[in-house]
Amino acid sequence: MKYVHLKWEDRYSLEVDAMYKVHQELIVFINKMFDAMETEDYSQMQIAFVNLANFVVKHFKDEEAFMDKHEFTGRETHKLTHKKLLESMGEFESQIKTKKLDKDRLHGFLRVWLSSHIMGIDRKYADEIVPKLKKVA
Ligand SMILES: [Fe+2]
Ligand SMILES: [Fe+2]
Repeated sequence: MKYVHLKWEDRYSLEVDAMYKVHQELIVFINKMFDAMETEDYSQMQIAFVNLANFVVKHFKDEEAFMDKHEFTGRETHKLTHKKLLESMGEFESQIKTKKLDKDRLHGFLRVWLSSHIMGIDRKYADEIVPKLKKVA
């Protein structure tokens, strides 16, 4: 298999229950995209990509609402990162539409994205918000 699957690792856990599950699900959608790329069939790639993109759009919205609700100090920067990620997704979407998908690039993008997004920037809101939640509880 060329497009190696992502595996959930415990270090991705954010101690925010709502996000924990969603990030696990995100991996499932990403791996489905990798499977579709393996088939070289553009109609399958199209479907897998739309499913992934819809999931991501919803996740970003939920995450942004969560950060707003808890007044996370870095929320504007985080929102900007989401915006940039969606822009890259848009580029890949047009590549799929014109049947010119750079599969290796998308594979790399999704792999790096997952680790840097969850381990890097999502971790920041978790680190700030989780202790606050614990205080309230
Ligand atoms: Fe995020
Ligand atoms: Fe996230």
